[in-house]
Amino acid sequence: MKACIFDLDGVLVDTAKYHFIAWQRLANNLQVDFTEHDNEQLKGLSRDASLDYILKKGKISASSSEKEVWKEQKNNWYLELVNTMQENEVLPNCKELLSDLKSNGIKIGLGSASKNAALILTRVNIKHYFDVIIDGTVTSISKPNPEVFLLGAKVLDLQPNECIVFEDAINGVIAAKAGGFKTIGIGEKEVLTEADLVFPDLSSLNFEMLNRIV
Ligand code: BG6
Ligand code: MG
Repeated sequence: MKACIFDLDGVLVDTAKYHFIAWQRLANNLQVDFTEHDNEQLKGLSRDASLDYILKKGKISASSSEKEVWKEQKNNWYLELVNTMQENEVLPNCKELLSDLKSNGIKIGLGSASKNAALILTRVNIKHYFDVIIDGTVTSISKPNPEVFLLGAKVLDLQPNECIVFEDAINGVIAAKAGGFKTIGIGEKEVLTEADLVFPDLSSLNFEMLNRIV
């Protein structure tokens, strides 16, 4: 293990609940029903792919300018929520784990679909831990494509099998596995079926045990 590459939303911070509120608000405005199950499908997908999912569900065809307006609307609602985030909204053991990995010489990367990633890392004060940040501003293909993680490994000058990816979304787990990464699912085993190992959250993880189990 030479590097750990973390997804952001749902792994390091609990922003999945804010994405859910904002997408549900948009979907309902468009007369489309939006459930927890739908939200699960959207985890890890880009903003574009998420809107396409909702439009497909509602059998809505839209022009590209309408799509731009709706994506901006959703993002504004999302940012209203994100801008209230406090430093303590990192998930349990997040800072302790990042700090432990760093002090043991492990490189730390971010592999997120979000275009708001840098803003969120700054808000919760963890940006300084990262050696590389690959996010939705630099990727062109949404998870489950492995691009985001492969770019991270490339910048770190490492092979995928030298890096562990941490993911809470099935699309992200599939992406990491497709890229040849060891993959730790964060969430439920029943959902993250393709992951090498699954933990409910980061709370039991540290350098010593990760080094031993991977
Ligand atoms: C992912 C989330 O991390 O980022 C998705 O899991 C989200 O739910 C995607 O749609 C894009 O985020 P943003 O912040 O660019 O709209
Ligand atoms: Mg996620």
